[in-house]
Amino acid sequence: MTSATRTCPSEALPLGALLDRGAAYLARHGVPPDEARAQAEILAEEATGLRRARLLLHLREAPAPEAVVALRGMLVRVARGEPVQYVVGRWPFCGAELGVSPAALIPRPETEGLVERVLAHPAWRAARRVADIGTGTGAIAVALALAAKAEGRAVEILAVDLSPEALALARRNAQGNGVGGLVSCLEGDGAAGLAPGSCDLVVSNPPYIPSAEVDALPPLIRDHEPRLALDGGPDGLDVIRQVILDCTQALRPGGRLFLEIGEDQGLSVRRLLERAGYGAVAVGKDLAGHDRYAEGTLP
Ligand SMILES: C[S@@+](CC[C@H](N)C(=O)[O-])C[C@H]1O[C@@H](n2cnc3c(N)ncnc32)[C@H](O)[C@@H]1O
Repeated sequence: MTSATRTCPSEALPLGALLDRGAAYLARHGVPPDEARAQAEILAEEATGLRRARLLLHLREAPAPEAVVALRGMLVRVARGEPVQYVVGRWPFCGAELGVSPAALIPRPETEGLVERVLAHPAWRAARRVADIGTGTGAIAVALALAAKAEGRAVEILAVDLSPEALALARRNAQGNGVGGLVSCLEGDGAAGLAPGSCDLVVSNPPYIPSAEVDALPPLIRDHEPRLALDGGPDGLDVIRQVILDCTQALRPGGRLFLEIGEDQGLSVRRLLERAGYGAVAVGKDLAGHDRYAEGTLP
């Protein structure tokens, strides 16, 4: 028994029953049934302060009344269409715990794949200065800084975004994950503000959805996540084009650019990289088998 749960008095529902009812309530309000239970558990973690493994040990106990009130309030917000990540205000990414808010995109598993590609590349081991363009929550910057710290290497990470609100979140996330000293947050447009030849690597998950498709996204995304993080212009490639060109200046010769891209953009981005003069161009797939990553090295 914990301070957040207590032996179940007859009138109070045990946590297990609250979770069953919560999941059914979410499913009735449009949350896919296979996600509803997991979302109810995530909310219960937040309401009780118990981490998932411990939560499941307390299913027969009644949560404290204030935890039940908090859980109900959060269930209502999710049922009304708010992303569960914004309701709990935090989300895991590559081993980091990130604060999330409507100021920035919710980090996605595909972007963990981008970080894995960077860390697996030989260029990472020699890198001393790395930029994350369009940092949002700071997800990529924080994950790379944590990796560098674990490797005992001094790598300077520049986290760049157009949005001051996103940068404030990224700064808090870097500090909250103990890498505030490695990550510098800079307001900027693409990589244009970076000194010529100053970066060994640039990593970017820019907005890449064509403008016309943004309006057709599910309301969960369209109505809650920032348009600036999604909208890549008429063909979705505006910011990708800009970052590819900016990085011909910002990268040092031999420096490498790693991009996340839309699943139908592999061929176009390969051509953009080749035309801009990058070599060793590669397009990679995500776990679903879709083109998702593009890379190139400046000669
Ligand atoms: C798809 S989100 C990626 C956020 C984060 N890197 C992630 O992977 O979760 C794109 C980010 O790029 C930023 N952004 C959009 N246009 C930009 C530009 N021209 N220059 C810099 N950042 C930009 C947005 O504010 C947003 O935070």
